[in-house]
Amino acid sequence: QAQRSDALVLFGATGDLARRKLLPALYGLSRDGRLDIPVIGVALADFDDDGFREHARDAVTDAVDDVDKDVLDRFVASLSLIAGDYENPGTFERLANRLTGARSPVHYLAIPPSLFGTVVHSLASTGLNRDARVVVEKPFGHDLASARELNQTLHEAFDESSILRIDHYLGKETIENLLVFRFGNTFLEPLWNSHHVASVQLTMAESFGIDDRGAFYDSVGAIRDVVQNHLLQAVAMLAMEPPSGDSADDLRDEKVKVVRAMHPVDPEQLVRGQFIGYKDEPEVAEGSTTETYAALRLDIDSWRWSGVPFYVRAGKHLPMTALEAVVELKPPPRMLFGGADCRIPRPNLIRLRLGDHAGVTMTVQAKQPGKQIVTRPVDLAVDFDEALGPRQDAYTRLLDDAMDGDARRFAREDTVEHAWRVVDPALKADTPVFPYLPGSWGPAAADRVVGDDQWHDPEGPGR
Ligand code: BG6
Repeated sequence: QAQRSDALVLFGATGDLARRKLLPALYGLSRDGRLDIPVIGVALADFDDDGFREHARDAVTDAVDDVDKDVLDRFVASLSLIAGDYENPGTFERLANRLTGARSPVHYLAIPPSLFGTVVHSLASTGLNRDARVVVEKPFGHDLASARELNQTLHEAFDESSILRIDHYLGKETIENLLVFRFGNTFLEPLWNSHHVASVQLTMAESFGIDDRGAFYDSVGAIRDVVQNHLLQAVAMLAMEPPSGDSADDLRDEKVKVVRAMHPVDPEQLVRGQFIGYKDEPEVAEGSTTETYAALRLDIDSWRWSGVPFYVRAGKHLPMTALEAVVELKPPPRMLFGGADCRIPRPNLIRLRLGDHAGVTMTVQAKQPGKQIVTRPVDLAVDFDEALGPRQDAYTRLLDDAMDGDARRFAREDTVEHAWRVVDPALKADTPVFPYLPGSWGPAAADRVVGDDQWHDPEGPGR
């Protein structure tokens, strides 16, 4: 059992990610009695300790409903700030002084990847990498070559076992539940392969746009923002073999096998879209061809999945916010039933709702009451909010794991690099970007990706 961290250093403590996600998540841990260590922010900011505490107080109050004032007071009292430039060795000397007595700190790099090298080298030269862990945020590279460089940089100061790459999708209960749903039940696994599955679809729909992230988003686009990381990780959880044990590497060994078996995306099997109005967003380049929508086909050349298409799509300004995987089963070998209006029954669908309104719906055939045998689809559905109660937020879980040094829910180097290998050709090919209306399901051209199949739009809320 690894030792729990005894101090948390937050680089980029006054940045956007810290304000929106990390400070509220740390407050959540404090509320749950899981944060009794000093949290030291580092940032190039005009704040002293008190200024930073006020900033954190505002961040938590903005993000959390029903803030407990005593918990918040206790939480902000555990915060302090080192205001300084990452280029300046003095910043790290002050940090080392502040960390006197801490034996196994965790350093969270909530900073642009272009600064990773500077920070990591300074941590090493002040000995602050010793028995320490480092947490890094996406974007983890821009392509395969830059991801490899970043990994090398991190390895100059930290072992792979001490590097925790955040992909917050791995912190989602709904994604982790895929393991239990698949391997904790006996009815599903016998069907979960190319003998019985016709196709798998994964849709990540967002009803909102790029908010105030124009500069970041325009240099990234949907494939780098969510497909290379979140959605490929989700596909790995959907497609992996059962792990041989419960260690972090047992799980991650199986996930990397899925990504390793994926063919690089064929640019012919990729359709990119851009919502109309994107180019008028602040800080988006004139004439930008960045995609805000991508639909693509993945092929996993493994014993289990060979020949089964995995269709993946993600987009901004779609009709709803939802994350759903739909597994379509093959039809029965022979049709016994019919009827004027029902010659071909609808396929069995297993719909895994992985975002809000989490749950599972299975579409099965039943007999329409009446003299004739006519089939009619009905749904077997469970709502996890009702059945299982509330879920913990992904960042709160991942920060807790990071302090424990539990790497199960973090992305390993090999998976990240293989995921880039899979999307790289698609990124490098000069494919057209089709305009689509905000509020639509993306460009009609995306139908090309599914060929004779059809997209199963998410059900979204309301069940
Ligand atoms: C982030 C992306 O990683 O994930 C955002 O940068 C996206 O563009 C977000 O909106 C989605 O996360 P979630 O948890 O709301 O599905």
